[in-house]
Amino acid sequence: MIVLGIESSCDETAIAIIKNKEILSHIVLSQIDTHKTFGGVIPEIASRMHLEAIDGLITNALKESKLTLADIDVFSATCGPGLAGGLIIGSLATKTLSLVCNKPFVAVNHLQGHALIPTMSHDVKFPFLLLLVSGGHTQFLAVEGVNDYKILGSTIDDAIGEAFDKSARLLGLPYPGGKAIEELALLGDENKYNFPLPLCNQKNCNFSFSGLKTAVKEAVVKQELTDTVKKDIAASLQNTIVKILLNRTKNAINLFEDNYGKLNSLVISGGVSANLKIRSSLENFLKTKNISLICPPLNLCTDNGVMIAWAGYQRALLGLYNSLDFPIKVRWSLEELN
Ligand SMILES: Nc1ncnc2c1ncn2[C@@H]1O[C@H](COP(=O)(O)OP(=O)(O)OP(=O)(O)O)[C@@H](O)[C@H]1O
Ligand SMILES: [Mg+2]
Repeated sequence: MIVLGIESSCDETAIAIIKNKEILSHIVLSQIDTHKTFGGVIPEIASRMHLEAIDGLITNALKESKLTLADIDVFSATCGPGLAGGLIIGSLATKTLSLVCNKPFVAVNHLQGHALIPTMSHDVKFPFLLLLVSGGHTQFLAVEGVNDYKILGSTIDDAIGEAFDKSARLLGLPYPGGKAIEELALLGDENKYNFPLPLCNQKNCNFSFSGLKTAVKEAVVKQELTDTVKKDIAASLQNTIVKILLNRTKNAINLFEDNYGKLNSLVISGGVSANLKIRSSLENFLKTKNISLICPPLNLCTDNGVMIAWAGYQRALLGLYNSLDFPIKVRWSLEELN
């Protein structure tokens, strides 16, 4: 089965064509350089840039995969959650292709894309425990099947990616800041600052990150922001985030095992799962419990079209197609899939 997937929920216009597990084309056009100057994504600019890019990207993806539109069996697009303008452009373009080619359309939840992409490169059995750590979401989910998700815990305020991005901004680092913090943290003292560990005394597996950003702000304003200070804050912040993740993971495993029996694999996905310190710390902790850590390839952690094509493929295998009047959904929980 050949699937074309389009992602346009935020600031990447991305397209991929896959043939079963084989990636035939994978193009990500990032708008970061434009949004960088504003310190965050400007929705109106994002919409216009998606509109300008999308036709050319479809042509390029077909060229790269040496296919024509007639070869595509299924068309899938992100229909939410995300910024309305981008979602409309990507989903309408994809629906048009589906209509013209008379081939089925699949409306993909962006988070379903993040959730399932590790199963493209690894053989993971359902149900599995998923730690979804991205720019807009931080959740533990029990993934019971391709289309069945139960949220076990969630952030009650900021997402983990926001904790990285907002702290990076305070340190004068470029947007988005996750990768920059990771690089700077390698050079700093991770025990220099004692940042708070919100909710870590609670039995659930929820998260809270807004206090962390405030604590970073306090450390920044009370002293001159030298290179050493920046490195130490970055390292201490990352170390604190790792401690929070480990603490919450312990509870999430208990919650999962109470309902589904012994856990064999923890799957991590979303942009923040590209962080190598987070990966290695989780891996070391899980080893002691005989649980393996499954991560997507680094280039498939942040937004991309492959994850939308792969989720489209998985849904198509189950006959989970959608009609062309499927709406975009700016907010769309994984517990409410069609
Ligand atoms: N190496 C890294 N370490 C930490 N954070 C990272 C790293 N690489 C990327 N990130 C963070 O990942 C986030 C982007 O991830 P992603 O593309 O999955 O988010 P999004 O699509 O904006 O949000 P969502 O998927 O929740 O809608 C940013 O916050 C970025 O700082
Ligand atoms: Mg994303």
